[in-house]
Amino acid sequence: MQFINREQEKKDLIAHLETEPNAILFLYGPKSCGKTSLINNVINNKLDKKKFDIKYINFRNILMTEYQDFINVFFRDVFVEKNEREIEEIRKYNLGIFSLDVSDKQKILEKKLNPFEVMTKKLRNIADSNLRPIIIIDEIQTIKDMLISENKSLISELFNYFVSLTKEMHLAHVVILTSDSYFIEDIYSNAKLSKTSNFYLVNHLEKAEIIKWLSQKEYNFSQEDIDYIWEKFGGSAWEIWELIKYLKSDLSLKEAIQKNIEELQGKVWDFYDNKLDRDLRSDFKKVSSELADKGVYKIRDEDNLSSLIREAVEKDFWFYNASKRSIIPNSKSIQNVFKEIFK
Ligand SMILES: Nc1ncnc2c1ncn2[C@@H]1O[C@H](COP(=O)(O)OP(=O)(O)OP(=O)(O)O)[C@@H](O)[C@H]1O
Ligand SMILES: [Mg+2]
Repeated sequence: MQFINREQEKKDLIAHLETEPNAILFLYGPKSCGKTSLINNVINNKLDKKKFDIKYINFRNILMTEYQDFINVFFRDVFVEKNEREIEEIRKYNLGIFSLDVSDKQKILEKKLNPFEVMTKKLRNIADSNLRPIIIIDEIQTIKDMLISENKSLISELFNYFVSLTKEMHLAHVVILTSDSYFIEDIYSNAKLSKTSNFYLVNHLEKAEIIKWLSQKEYNFSQEDIDYIWEKFGGSAWEIWELIKYLKSDLSLKEAIQKNIEELQGKVWDFYDNKLDRDLRSDFKKVSSELADKGVYKIRDEDNLSSLIREAVEKDFWFYNASKRSIIPNSKSIQNVFKEIFK
């Protein structure tokens, strides 16, 4: 799949990664806007492999229920006395980003050895061979409720460690992504983290980028078509790819867009009528009507929206921008649906 533009974002990320580590970098933005694609594009195509050692974890693909799962993500076992076939079998489940003796791993699991100290050793080895380690963690919110021991939250231990890796030791870059914009709120309101982190907003694509993309001959869109697509979907690459897929069937452009909008409308109605607590409906309507009109809702002091924001963000209807204390529609198509429903 062709990767579209993002020249500015790529430059900014490379600039960050080519400087000595000094803060954790959080990438956040509306659901499906292209955060994961962006970081993958940067690490696969833009970074000099001779300068960096990249450790990439995407928690979306990993079932995380207990401490042991977390340890397995970071450490893969090195087996000394196994035959090839056995090793092959084990390798499938043995995907940790640092290799480690089985006995050391056992000690970590028994909490006789501190996993963060082991990681630091591994990272120092990498740095000694003149490579800058970069740890990238996607979908970090998956582990937000995990405990390392009674009363000790795994994620806060992990963040403490990342602060020391970046701000104190300047040893490795740490880039963290999440598809849950409400989760960024927790981080933003954590004084220690907000002071030791950079927050980088990745938005949907800009109009000029969409025009350049859709003007390519292979798509055969007229200027009028492109304007119409922009009006309905804005810069949401994901929705535009879906539209292009529909167009391969017999649907006309208008029919394909209509189909998409109807689906989305159905989802919003279902949420509003069936899923949303009755007490929250009037607030959902109030905020969403303002989003339809103005495209943004600034949170007021008298508002009490936390649980509603959590739900509407989870359903990908709203995007919550913690630094600005504002809500925007997750995409232009959602804003259009709000216009239809709540006008
Ligand atoms: N720059 C781009 N060029 C082409 N397609 C893109 C681009 N960015 C995003 N996409 C499309 O949008 C889809 C969703 O992107 P991606 O998964 O990177 O978004 P995300 O922000 O990480 O989503 P989530 O919030 O679920 O984590 C991709 O599969 C791809 O089809
Ligand atoms: Mg993602």
